[in-house]
Amino acid sequence: MTVAPSPVSPQAGDYDRADWASGFRNVGVELSDVTVEASRGTIPAELQGTLYRNGPGRLERGGQWVHHPFDGDGMITALRFEDGAVRLSNRFIRTEGWLAEEKAGRFTYRGVFGTQKPGGPLANAFDLRLKNIANTHVVRLGDELLALWEASSPHALDPDSLETRGVTLLDGVLKPGEAFSAHPRFDPGHHGQERMVTFGVKTGPRSTVRLLEFAVKDDPAAGVKAGQLLSERSDSFKGFAFLHDFAITPNWAVFLQNAIAFNPLPYLLGRKGAAQCLASKPGGQAQFWLIPRDSGAFAGQEPRIIPAPEGFVFHHLNAWEERDELVLTSIFYADFPSIGPDTDFRSIDFDLIPEGLLERCTIDLTSGTLRTERLSERCCEFAMVNPSREGLASRYGWMAVAERETGNDPLQALKKLDLVSGERRVWSAAPRGFVSEPVMVPRPAAAGAPAPAEDDGWVLCVVWNGARCASDLVILDAASMAEVAVLELPLAIPYGLHGSFVPA
Ligand code: CO
Repeated sequence: MTVAPSPVSPQAGDYDRADWASGFRNVGVELSDVTVEASRGTIPAELQGTLYRNGPGRLERGGQWVHHPFDGDGMITALRFEDGAVRLSNRFIRTEGWLAEEKAGRFTYRGVFGTQKPGGPLANAFDLRLKNIANTHVVRLGDELLALWEASSPHALDPDSLETRGVTLLDGVLKPGEAFSAHPRFDPGHHGQERMVTFGVKTGPRSTVRLLEFAVKDDPAAGVKAGQLLSERSDSFKGFAFLHDFAITPNWAVFLQNAIAFNPLPYLLGRKGAAQCLASKPGGQAQFWLIPRDSGAFAGQEPRIIPAPEGFVFHHLNAWEERDELVLTSIFYADFPSIGPDTDFRSIDFDLIPEGLLERCTIDLTSGTLRTERLSERCCEFAMVNPSREGLASRYGWMAVAERETGNDPLQALKKLDLVSGERRVWSAAPRGFVSEPVMVPRPAAAGAPAPAEDDGWVLCVVWNGARCASDLVILDAASMAEVAVLELPLAIPYGLHGSFVPA
């Protein structure tokens, strides 16, 4: 039997680099409740609520570009779905840094990802003020919208007008400037009550993880108000920690401590941003840190520390418990994608950076051993499960993927993966469209009817349309990944980070 030879190196995807690069830009307008019609298809009437997106909206000042888009000031986009219609609003978060730099017309802060103030190293050395740019995620907690940036406090916004109320310490839960993750996980009710579970890391030679659980809904019978802190614990671990995301199960908060080292000298001397001083630690051992949740069966016990596979992880898809095992699915990179001091982010060579690949780690909690399995060879990022399956066995994942089957490229398609059978369904925006994080919105359960299937609902995604040089909102059927509607937005939203859907 002869087998056709596979290509030696996969061809780069069929996209125009100028189309891709056009998605990095400044936003110059703030819109309020602009009605947007579907250009194709029909907006589902059952879809009721608001899709909030966060991401960098300002990438240049006074002719100087940020060194990396992650240094761009946070801008919130809200897309409100009501009775088959959509209204669009967007607002910059009025952070201290944004206000100062708007006034100055130039960068007056250094960015964590390498943006320097004008004037070279001398002008930047020993300026260790953090510019809290609030650009990473946006979630609803109680009567506030929280714009999150992991190295410092959240900013509270009005959920309707998107006006900035200011930095919030969450009713005194946080100390001023305390790190507060941009990756909360929403426990759909593992112990009968919905919770927002999140964390903050204080790092150094030892690292302390503060795990926090907040009520998501008012519970007058229990005297609990939405947004109230329900439990917390702090645990210290040996070594420097870089923790962007985590996962939850009913009993555990699951962290993957990457084998990363931090050399602050170039940062102190004004040559590099703090995040550019992170590098893979040769010979380092990644670890899982399993912290018992206070609501679970192991409350009050010490954390479990278990050796983890090589590679680097920003984001997890989901975790769950199966008898004495913990199953965690994550997006693994072969190495930490370092942010060089000199490269222009718009001219990066995708072939030189490792792609994200979905892998499942099954941790035997009795023996502390694990096995790993690659679930897909296709470059992916921004993966999620049905929010009602967060922390529980889930069959489906939705994620942004590259157009070609292997190799690294910009994210141009959305994929639904059946985690059991491996079956996948793909919707593609190629060649001229570039996707962002897909948000899966379950179909609301009808009163008295059985719960809808796990993949019953929609996938919402803001897509950069290179042909229009503006953004589209794409609505897909979550089960089939067929296009339900496309809305051509009257706004050009630069590539964003995370967001969430808040049902009406
Ligand atoms: Co993230």
